[in-house]
Amino acid sequence: MPTTIPIIPMRQKSIQKQPLDTQTLRKLVDFECGSIDRRLYWDDEIYGLELERIFARTWLFVAHDSQVANYGDFLTTFMGEDGVIVTRAQDGKVNVFLNSCTHRGNKICLAEAGNKRRFTCNYHGWTFDSAGSLVGLPQEEVYKNTCKDFDKTQLGIRRARVESYKGLVFATFNEEAESLEQFLGDYRWYLDVLLDNDVGGTEFLPGNIKSRMQCNWKYPAENFAGDSYHAAWTHNSGAVALFGQGVAKSDQTKAYQANMNGHSWQFGLDMIGNAMVLGEQDILDYLKENEAKVALRLGKLRSRMIGSISSANLFPHTSFLPGQNTFRTWHPKGPSQIELHTWVLVNKSAPDALKNMYMKGVMRSFSPSGVLEMDDGDNWENATSTNQGVVTRRQKLHYGLGMDSRIEHGELKGNVHLRKYNDSNQLAFYRKWLELMCDERVGAS
Ligand code: FES
Ligand code: FE
Repeated sequence: MPTTIPIIPMRQKSIQKQPLDTQTLRKLVDFECGSIDRRLYWDDEIYGLELERIFARTWLFVAHDSQVANYGDFLTTFMGEDGVIVTRAQDGKVNVFLNSCTHRGNKICLAEAGNKRRFTCNYHGWTFDSAGSLVGLPQEEVYKNTCKDFDKTQLGIRRARVESYKGLVFATFNEEAESLEQFLGDYRWYLDVLLDNDVGGTEFLPGNIKSRMQCNWKYPAENFAGDSYHAAWTHNSGAVALFGQGVAKSDQTKAYQANMNGHSWQFGLDMIGNAMVLGEQDILDYLKENEAKVALRLGKLRSRMIGSISSANLFPHTSFLPGQNTFRTWHPKGPSQIELHTWVLVNKSAPDALKNMYMKGVMRSFSPSGVLEMDDGDNWENATSTNQGVVTRRQKLHYGLGMDSRIEHGELKGNVHLRKYNDSNQLAFYRKWLELMCDERVGAS
């Protein structure tokens, strides 16, 4: 939740720092000792490089299929700081292109979502179709008669590559990027817990909450990647207020962190943990009743993961709580600000009354007025602002919990670590971050 206390603006020019070459970047994260330099959270230069080397290079979640179900359905969102339009074309394909006119750069779509088959720019009236191609402009003969080599087909909007996995639509402006299948890899095995636990798949409930927090985007991403440790402390008073009892300490001998390619999931096998947060007995009953059906579909182990106390982050900036069903993206807006987009993800086949309970439960817990989001937001904002201090920024942060916890597990995919109280997923997030930040090849053009 954004605080009412103004954040002190950074004075980047007065800060002395090492030039940002690969050698300097590598020193920022120490995987042997488990420590991280605070520069990651305040530096404008690092932030600029993140936009280039992470957000303009990897696949990014942009929409759920259900948000653009029909021809002409569209929404506007961000890929890094680039505004984009996501829309379903007549051929059924989802297209993603920059929300910026090729004439003078004006934003061509001002709405957040809706249905239209053409996007007409407010400034001079150039019109683009659902593939971003320029299809019309006022007084076209003026251009034809006086503009040498005028060719409408060359003035379409820059489109991204688009691929999807079981309802989640991803895009990238990087023509050299691996396929989405390779990008997700074994993470798909985990995603199926969320996306494929029932016939018919999932949908986003209508509506999308957008809010701002004064924090660096990596704080919430790494928190959802694997910070189970904070829950029993940060959210204890919230849990008391909501349910009359504090957060139960989880059994660490049946709890895991798993990661691959920067994507993370931490979970216990104590069914119905996250769903408790919704405070709806009907949802708990629904999950319990469905457990045997899910076991037939995904196996016993994954059937235990659906409502367990767990959290996940799909690299770089998309997070969710399985069973609790909040689904969100942390869009970067500078080194110390994010725009948070939140939805509620449900099984399509769930009864309407249950979907409504999910919606209310998420609003109570993880929305701008949600008890648990306020707890987290304060911590992330304060961590971001304090890191800038001239002496403070020279002190390293500790990420050494559970360094010896790697195990081989017969069934679980990826790099698996025993115990959720563990920094392994967070270090894996930063390993991927560093790999991309040190890769000097140009990503998107
Ligand atoms: Fe869009 Fe001129 S800026 S038509
Ligand atoms: Fe939290």
